[in-house]
Amino acid sequence: MNILITGAAGFIGSNFTYYELDKHPEDRIVALDLLTYAGNLKNLEGCKKYPQFSFVKMDIRDRDSIYKFFEKENFDIVVNFAAESHVDRSIMDPEVFLSTNVIGTEVLMDACLKYGVKRFHQVSTDEVYGDLPLETKDSFFTEETPLHASSPYSASKAAADLLVNAYNRTYGLNTTISRCSNNYGPYQFPEKLIPLMINNARHDRPLPVYGKGINIRDWLHVYDHCAGIDLVMRKGKNGEVYNIGGHNEKRNIDVVKTILKELDKPESLITYVADRKGHDLRYAIDPSKIERELGWKPVYDFDTGIKETIEWYLDHEEWMNEITSGEYLRYYEEMYKDI
Ligand code: NAD
Ligand code: TYD
Repeated sequence: MNILITGAAGFIGSNFTYYELDKHPEDRIVALDLLTYAGNLKNLEGCKKYPQFSFVKMDIRDRDSIYKFFEKENFDIVVNFAAESHVDRSIMDPEVFLSTNVIGTEVLMDACLKYGVKRFHQVSTDEVYGDLPLETKDSFFTEETPLHASSPYSASKAAADLLVNAYNRTYGLNTTISRCSNNYGPYQFPEKLIPLMINNARHDRPLPVYGKGINIRDWLHVYDHCAGIDLVMRKGKNGEVYNIGGHNEKRNIDVVKTILKELDKPESLITYVADRKGHDLRYAIDPSKIERELGWKPVYDFDTGIKETIEWYLDHEEWMNEITSGEYLRYYEEMYKDI
């Protein structure tokens, strides 16, 4: 099969590219990325040794280039990871989130229709459901939970999901959507909680915890997310949505304390800062549909996964130093100017 992975130089896209090359050596893998601040070709360095791998730099919003490319390539499956993905940046400047996450998805689906792509898979997020109260520990997002996005980021992802369903019903495009909880693992850009805290702790810098640190996220190792997407895009039913999550809810403060403990750093580095605007309280996924219908099950438990992840960041100091210079420094100084 001929598979296009968009957003392949980002965190989950690069992990997914390795997953596909390893698990499906019979397939041809084309990785596409615009290489924005979050995209890094170094993430795909290890893919070059696979003869079935190639990379192209392209903007998913650039209709002419996308059409010319699709005409030439004859893709069977397109899996779309390309997105602006950081909630805090979406609060600072929403517009690019709408253009990449909504218009970019539309252009890709138009190309799929025009050039006969057999399956379009949209990588979405549990954030499209909004949030759950902190107190109700037995409530979860199911695929039937109404979309109720809170941030410009999640609103743009929800809009894209609605458009995917509209293309499925109106034009008959063969589609699937997966909605996963928060991921952690190698190659995550250090504007997100876990790599940011590891990097700051390592350099004895303050660890900025929003509000009281009691917001809850449902963490899944990126490998398990990739395994779920692989199943859904190959075996999922046309027009269906699948939630992906491993029932691993943690308060932010507890994640931060775990990182400090693993790195043998003092809790005095924790610095409480102003809360995020509109901060979602709790995410929690019910993954029973993907477990039941596609036989998916996570392999990582959080204790093992977080240890391995911390070690990975410690072993990849040069990777971290390269991306935390330049644009990252400007963002960090603006975002965390009060600490
Ligand atoms: P990321 O920001 O690390 O990667 C996004 C990639 O998309 C980058 O490589 C970037 O260069 C590329 N990109 C951005 N705009 C583009 C454009 N116009 N054309 C082509 N490429 C473009 O994000 P991530 O964390 O890897 O997330 C990937 C996808 O998974 C996103 O759609 C996100 O909504 C979804 N998701 C993420 C999580 C999570 O915890 N990180 C959880 C669930 C779902
Ligand atoms: P993040 O990694 O941005 O993912 P998302 O907002 O998409 O869930 O943030 C995870 C949680 O950590 C979220 O509740 C916000 C919080 N957070 C902090 O407390 N401090 C930080 O510096 C960052 C980046 C996040």
